[in-house]
Amino acid sequence: MNRLTRIAVLVSGGGTNLQAIIDAQKSGIIRSGEVSLVLSNSASAYALTRAEKEGIPAAVVTRKKGASEGLSIPVYEVPDKETQENKLMELIDEAEIDLIVLAGFMVVLSERFINHYKDRIINVHPSLIPSFCGDGFYGLKVHEAALAKGVKVTGATVHYVNEITDGGRILAQKAVEVREDDTPETLQRRVMEEAEWIILPETIERISYEHLR
Ligand code: GAR
Repeated sequence: MNRLTRIAVLVSGGGTNLQAIIDAQKSGIIRSGEVSLVLSNSASAYALTRAEKEGIPAAVVTRKKGASEGLSIPVYEVPDKETQENKLMELIDEAEIDLIVLAGFMVVLSERFINHYKDRIINVHPSLIPSFCGDGFYGLKVHEAALAKGVKVTGATVHYVNEITDGGRILAQKAVEVREDDTPETLQRRVMEEAEWIILPETIERISYEHLR
């Protein structure tokens, strides 16, 4: 039998999507792949604690100085974005990663990085692309914009990453109802629960399975 598809998850913050992927692996929704590496651009990302609890190798590649205190995982301090990407690529290649998942990773990757892993990077975005996406639309800002527009339905999208921000081929989408009394926070949470945490693991399994064959 082929080895499982090796997955790297790139994170910046809370890591609830990472948790959903880990849980899906445990429950058997993801059975063709395994999270083999977690990389963060921020030393304070709670996602790193989630990785540590599961014994998943993790590292931080950050442009912030003095970020390494108290961390037991490798922390690489880098001077600029190019060096940061080089280090990320080195760690990804060393771990023989097949699929890169951006799960709340708040760094816009360069064309050089994206082309190096052509059709091997996917991203989860908290809206129905092409609404509320592109440069400047990330995290809570996406939900603030959806509420300001007054849309009645929003959702999440999983897509391949190409050189256009949120512009790659769409792999999965799921709609979520907007409620009258929603705040950006309540909407963000419902989009995660009802859409992101479902379609991201399902898509990862689909791609991992295809990769095995
Ligand atoms: C998620 O809602 C994800 O869709 C969003 O950031 C959040 C990360 O949460 N990503 C973007 O906005 C990318 N443009 P998490 O760290 O708890 O998974």
